[in-house]
Amino acid sequence: MNNSKINISKRLNECLSTQIFDLLIKCGEFTERNSASLFLVGGCLRDILLNKRPKDIDLTLVNGDSNLVQNLSEYLGGKIIFKSQFFTYKLKVNNNIIDITEARKEVYSSPGSLPKITSKCSIDDDLYRRDFTINSMALSLNPASLGNIIDPFNGINDINNKNIRIIHDNSFSDDPTRILRAIRYSIRLNFNIDNQTLSKINEFKSNINSITGFRIKNELIKILREDSRSKILLYLDTLKILDIIQPNINLNTKINEIFDNFQFKDEYIDDLILIGILIYNLNIQNIIYFAEKLYLDSIFIKTLRDTNEIKQLLQNVKLDKLKNSSIYKQLYKYKYEAIIINRYFSNENVCQKIDLYLNKLKDTIPPLNGKEIIALGAKPGPIIKEIMDYLLHEKLDGNIKNKDQAKIKATQILNK
Ligand code: CTP
Repeated sequence: MNNSKINISKRLNECLSTQIFDLLIKCGEFTERNSASLFLVGGCLRDILLNKRPKDIDLTLVNGDSNLVQNLSEYLGGKIIFKSQFFTYKLKVNNNIIDITEARKEVYSSPGSLPKITSKCSIDDDLYRRDFTINSMALSLNPASLGNIIDPFNGINDINNKNIRIIHDNSFSDDPTRILRAIRYSIRLNFNIDNQTLSKINEFKSNINSITGFRIKNELIKILREDSRSKILLYLDTLKILDIIQPNINLNTKINEIFDNFQFKDEYIDDLILIGILIYNLNIQNIIYFAEKLYLDSIFIKTLRDTNEIKQLLQNVKLDKLKNSSIYKQLYKYKYEAIIINRYFSNENVCQKIDLYLNKLKDTIPPLNGKEIIALGAKPGPIIKEIMDYLLHEKLDGNIKNKDQAKIKATQILNK
């Protein structure tokens, strides 16, 4: 493949739905009529050149502003659903989402800091602020130049040669998250990291400590959401980068096996579970250190604390030998995700008990409510809750099958 031989409209047709394709053509026509230019850019173009369906549609607008984007969305019969101070817009048109960014230059005041956006600029300047050659190309959507690819850093060549290459030597010092991105892309796409880029990774990897925890968390989550998460993590480990993110993460065969079989479905819950699995072997001090460093939210922290407590519990208590009410008493206070994380590390008998708890015991309700217990003669107060709990445990163990039996048991307690 080289620049001239790509039949780009065939590619676009193959990789995009007809709806999106038509939408992009309309966007290009409208932009040109308004004396501006519009390009398909970044990972979206990379994926199309690799004959893959892109996850997102990313466009860059040159010589246009927020008014033009507003008019464009009205022309398409859609609306802007998000607009940031950094000249980025999210358009929704008939359930299709399109991201548009005004072309911009970025300046990094210190390594790892967020860039300062200095000015609106040409498409070449915009491409120069990007990470790797394969992500620094633009495809024109204007009718006059439709399908022309701007490829200032030979990205097409690197796609052909399966190469991940930075476009300038400061790329990783500007933004050390790119080190994690390079490794993620290399495994995902089965590309090699070019030697010069690899030596820059080694030179700047300690700068990962200068990135905010929030950005490290985002990159880690992107890695964990990939199908090849275990290979990416192993590569990070080999390059001694995992240790920089968090020392003592022990990527043993069990963790790799869990990661290899993990089917990612729900974003937030699965993020919690995957992080919990990754740091399962850390002690509680390191877990808290990790959580604080990455600014994890309180739900994350509760899940990680619970995970560690359940892990200790399962080391001391044989869950598979307990009766139902005892299983309930051991687990009821813990978060669902923390139980699931421990399930991944449990033997078959314990897994069965965890499933029994999650599928049945957890949602069992006491056979009598407070009012019904008061109607039996109980005085309002803590005794009501005690009786309800007792009845619930008896029900879980199969000693109470209906309300009448529950009333008899409750009356016996009240008469004691
Ligand atoms: N980008 C960059 N440096 C970063 C993050 C992003 O230069 N630290 C640029 C790249 O050109 C990238 C584009 O912004 O292609 C969009 O970023 P993102 O959506 O994170 O990546 P994609 O390339 O779309 O890749 P992915 O398939 O991982 O979503």
